[in-house]
Amino acid sequence: MAERRFDDRFLFGAATAAFQIEGANHTDGRTDSIWDVFCRVEGAVINGDDGSVACDHYHRHDDDVALMASLGLQSYRFSTSWARVQPDARAANPKGLDFYSRLVDELLERDILPWLTLYHWDLPQTLQDDGGWANRDTAYRFVDYARLVHDRLGDRVRVWTTLNEPWCSAFLGYAAGVHAPGLQDAGQSLAAAHHLMLGHGLVVQQLRAADEELRLGLTVNLTPFRPADPRDPADLEAVRQLDGQANRIFLDPIFRGRYPDDVLADVAGLGLEDVIHDGDLEIISTPIDVLGVNYYQDAVVSGSPTGPVTATEAPTDRVTGSPFPAVRDVYPVEQDVPRTDMGWVISPDGLRQLLHRIHDEYAAPAGTDLYVTENGVAFADRVAPDGSVDDGDRVAYLRSHLGAVHRAIAEGVPVKGYFYWSLMDNFEWAWGYAKRFGIVAVDYETQRRTVKASGWEYANIIAARSLDH
Ligand code: NOJ
Repeated sequence: MAERRFDDRFLFGAATAAFQIEGANHTDGRTDSIWDVFCRVEGAVINGDDGSVACDHYHRHDDDVALMASLGLQSYRFSTSWARVQPDARAANPKGLDFYSRLVDELLERDILPWLTLYHWDLPQTLQDDGGWANRDTAYRFVDYARLVHDRLGDRVRVWTTLNEPWCSAFLGYAAGVHAPGLQDAGQSLAAAHHLMLGHGLVVQQLRAADEELRLGLTVNLTPFRPADPRDPADLEAVRQLDGQANRIFLDPIFRGRYPDDVLADVAGLGLEDVIHDGDLEIISTPIDVLGVNYYQDAVVSGSPTGPVTATEAPTDRVTGSPFPAVRDVYPVEQDVPRTDMGWVISPDGLRQLLHRIHDEYAAPAGTDLYVTENGVAFADRVAPDGSVDDGDRVAYLRSHLGAVHRAIAEGVPVKGYFYWSLMDNFEWAWGYAKRFGIVAVDYETQRRTVKASGWEYANIIAARSLDH
């Protein structure tokens, strides 16, 4: 077999998000985000965990950047905390901006490309008090916040993504109720989805006007659904519905300037059409330079009850469920493949197939560059007495998924980079600290970081720019 090399322009990175690692949630003027408040709701987060300390990255950013450099990371994808930058959602907080400015300088000193996400789920609570993303005004407030961050960092940060996984913000947050703000209201979830995308489009326009050289885009989580029986119309119908509400509901407005007709029909009566104003879809479909794809698993689904399926009990594992009353008769089908500690199936070829589809149907026609902005795995790591972690299962996961990316590239899909999720173990939302995704282990008692075997493997791959190092 030919050597599996990645060309010199391919970008290798790792990702985190503000709420999941920073801690210091009331330091230097930061106020509550919706996740601080959600963590206080009894039963919302496993073990009652919260983000008050997390990985204490706010105080350890210099060591963490040194760690990234020791792994040879070329890029670091992180998010800024809106409640740190703009605590009352109006005036800028210079201390909050100072923190990100120092972080960016440290990254650049080490030749690590800063890849900034403006919204990774942590809305200031004060905006939630006014309705959050279900309120159209939040989209305009997002522009104010983006402008403040750009004013301070725009001279040094060249890649800006607006949203991370709007599907989770809207549907896990406002419909399933398992993420902040913890609501179960299908109508509000659709309004939130629309306003998130509106905010995205407005920010892209704003930043483009400020500096036309910036690379702008967003990150979406996409789930490929396959029919249990491709000849069974009921199974194909289940795939259509789920693909609509998980994938096309975001991709079509962004790349084609319209909601898919079948999705509009599926959610008829829930108020989506009422919140769409004239001109919104033109804003939402403002051209973007980069599309980040987050991929964790795929799913096989049926339109008929399929018998027992392994219940994962995962509060966030709703990929095969739907908050919408019109989406019915969709059933997950057991796949005979290993699962992660989240209960998610391990399916690297799903990533390859997804990249093909997104390239063919969306990115290539728009001239948008495709990146994998998240892919990674939680395993119940075995920690040796010295704190080291020999996580062979994560090594295999990383290699097989990078192999899928490599194969997609060889088959003609120009994927430009890959970010492992996550640089380090961190606050896994409703799962608290119980799930560990890092290539670096974090001991939450001591805040000691230890590079896992998977971290060294990734470093070797990056150094060799090859899976055959
Ligand atoms: C997607 C999210 O962006 C990230 O915050 C989360 O920790 C990972 N997936 C793993 O669930």
